[in-house]
Amino acid sequence: MKRSLFFSTLLLAAACGGGGTKSTTPTGGGGGDVTGGGGTGGDGTGGVSADDPALAARKAFANPGGMWTPAQMAHPQHAAQLKAMGVSLPAENLTNPLAAPLNAVVSLGGCTGSFVSPEGLVITNHHCVQGALQFNSTPDNNLVENGFLAKSQAEEKAAGPTQKVSVAQAFTDITSDMMDGIDKIADFNKRKLELEKRAKTATAACEKGRPGLRCDVKSFFNGAQWTLIEYLEIRDVRLVYVPPRSIGNYGGEIDNWAWPRHTGDWAFYRAYVGKDGAPADPSPDNVPFQPKHWLKVDQDGTRAHDFIMIVGYPGKTNRVTTYDEVAHDVEWAYPYIIENYQQRYDLLTAMLAPDSNVGAGTKLKAGVFKQGVQNGLEKFSGVLAGLKKGDMMARKKAVDEKVRAWAQQPGNEEFAAAITRYDQMNADEQKTARVDFDRSQAVYGSAHLRNALLFVRMAEERQKKDADRKPGYQDRDVPRIEGGQKQFTRQFDATIDRAMFRLALVRALALPEADRPWLNTIVGVKKGAKIDEAAIDKALDTLYKGTKLEDEAARLDLLKKATPGKLKASKDPFVKLAVALWPMLKAQEKKDDAKAGEMVLLSAKYATAMQKALDGFLSPDANLTLRITYGTIKPFKPGEPAYTVASQILAKDKGEEPFDAPTKQLEAIKAKNWGPYADPVLGEVPVNFIGDLDITGGNSGSAVLDEKGQLVGLAFDGNIEGVASDVVFNHATTRTIMVDIRYAMWVMDLLDGADNVLEELGVKPAL
Ligand code: ARG
Repeated sequence: MKRSLFFSTLLLAAACGGGGTKSTTPTGGGGGDVTGGGGTGGDGTGGVSADDPALAARKAFANPGGMWTPAQMAHPQHAAQLKAMGVSLPAENLTNPLAAPLNAVVSLGGCTGSFVSPEGLVITNHHCVQGALQFNSTPDNNLVENGFLAKSQAEEKAAGPTQKVSVAQAFTDITSDMMDGIDKIADFNKRKLELEKRAKTATAACEKGRPGLRCDVKSFFNGAQWTLIEYLEIRDVRLVYVPPRSIGNYGGEIDNWAWPRHTGDWAFYRAYVGKDGAPADPSPDNVPFQPKHWLKVDQDGTRAHDFIMIVGYPGKTNRVTTYDEVAHDVEWAYPYIIENYQQRYDLLTAMLAPDSNVGAGTKLKAGVFKQGVQNGLEKFSGVLAGLKKGDMMARKKAVDEKVRAWAQQPGNEEFAAAITRYDQMNADEQKTARVDFDRSQAVYGSAHLRNALLFVRMAEERQKKDADRKPGYQDRDVPRIEGGQKQFTRQFDATIDRAMFRLALVRALALPEADRPWLNTIVGVKKGAKIDEAAIDKALDTLYKGTKLEDEAARLDLLKKATPGKLKASKDPFVKLAVALWPMLKAQEKKDDAKAGEMVLLSAKYATAMQKALDGFLSPDANLTLRITYGTIKPFKPGEPAYTVASQILAKDKGEEPFDAPTKQLEAIKAKNWGPYADPVLGEVPVNFIGDLDITGGNSGSAVLDEKGQLVGLAFDGNIEGVASDVVFNHATTRTIMVDIRYAMWVMDLLDGADNVLEELGVKPAL
């Protein structure tokens, strides 16, 4: 299965909001390296205290990178490392995804959350609940700005039609069910269809007679391993407490991807189920879900060099790749997508300018959209810059050469042959990369067209028996798709959609005509006819003026009831366009399927060879499944502060967004009103901290746990210098940025009056 570079990283970042500019100095304006206090010894200069013999091991530890699966934590190297670092939690607890603490961690779909009470309370990031805040905002109460607090369960608000809380229930290795005999199927299309069929069969058997359960077949190591994962999928999720924007997104886009940082990036949801304890549609009759496991908040506080681990659902990395794949990305893909993102960013900036003539509603949505585009633009630019710097490509090359050398050893001939063919296929793919990219940008460049294509596909799939439909379009997928349509109603803006679609079409003009037959179809002109920007604008006028697809009821009707015949007769210009494009896209899908059918065995062989070459100590690329990373609270350079502290907010504050802390907070800082939340060494409330953990998009909201498995903070960002670690892990440049749970407790207690939430966490309000 070929990785796709585009969208995937962003999908997650965008799902979690996001944005950013860089500020790259790792040194803070204060804050202390919190070593040397509390009897744990050490001050960043190497002192080792007698009562903590593991401190030296922790100081010496430099995370080599790895988003480990629970099963991988059984590797003796982990047990030895954890022991040396003084971790009391038995390594076995980290191998069992169904036991504490792992089972307290849940997927929020693009973000991570954790149960923190027996009543289904879930903690995650502030930037992960932006959709729910938007969903509940009214002209009089902008929750995105003001935040939200339910003083009782009755006051909680629905998080929206697509928000789920997924609790992992079981993991089953189904590699042989998926792969046995696959190589005997010579026709690559049939091979791909057979793989899909096996996955559908496994899923259907797993979900049969078990409502509320969602089963996913996931590939690890590019097809070398397959796991069936069962999730309890909770679909009544409510908003409990979110701090105001001036705390939750303090520093905004200026501080995004940067350290030092002072962001209060936390928020709370609650998961609800039917009275029988099973997932149910949202209803006032539902009751809080009672998880088997939930995290307890650490009461002692952390300090530099402490052991920490992060459990979460990282989305996508590209490490198990060949050197050539990465080199192509550096030479072509990243620059190309960065240029595209820059153009989108510029369009949105123009819409937001004071003299632009777009309406207030469009501006609101453009602002949210721009933040996501900016976050992605920053990330891609950061990955590219990082890969070009220092010896990153040389390191990639060294690993790749090791893999190839292993494959050359006697007995490994089948690996060598597979890698040769894999290289050829990758080279072929690179030849059409631009055309493929531009086509998908154009064809999926408008949400209206995406929806229309969805209706066309659904109408066709519905003609078949459920088991024979393409994965993603079966009966089990319909509720999810319907939720997406409802969310769409609140998010769509025709002015923005048209501008983005236009950009993709105008960009496609640069392709030779033979490479873009679809552009003629979209613009509605014959083959050979000349297309210019004026022709594109004329076509867009027709499409956007004539469509009825903004109407939710009309869309749901098409989604659930339309037949191919009815769609062919439709007068809606977007539906007509989708019908016209469909045969071409289907032919393309067939080609892609054949490629995937051949590729899967090759990419799996390369991944297996890489594992062998690295003595089995390699984690699979992130794939939105549960992973563990561990390390220590660690600054970039010894002696630098690993924490920021509240008093720095006073110095940083400008009284205007994004540096506009609430007045009450500034006064509390001046008065040093820390209550029990101050750190004994820092002498005040810690705000954010950094450590050498290995995370990526999707990890947002992940719990940071101490050596006992207790909650000490939440991961919410990485530093821009380190984002190239998605491709080649580099300890020297890579840190995770986390919010200290003591900061959250202080704000909840003193500023936001969230005493009810604090009490539910087992903390007695003191201020
Ligand atoms: N940079 C983070 C990520 O992509 C998103 C942080 C959201 N905050 C923000 N100010 N945009 O994972």
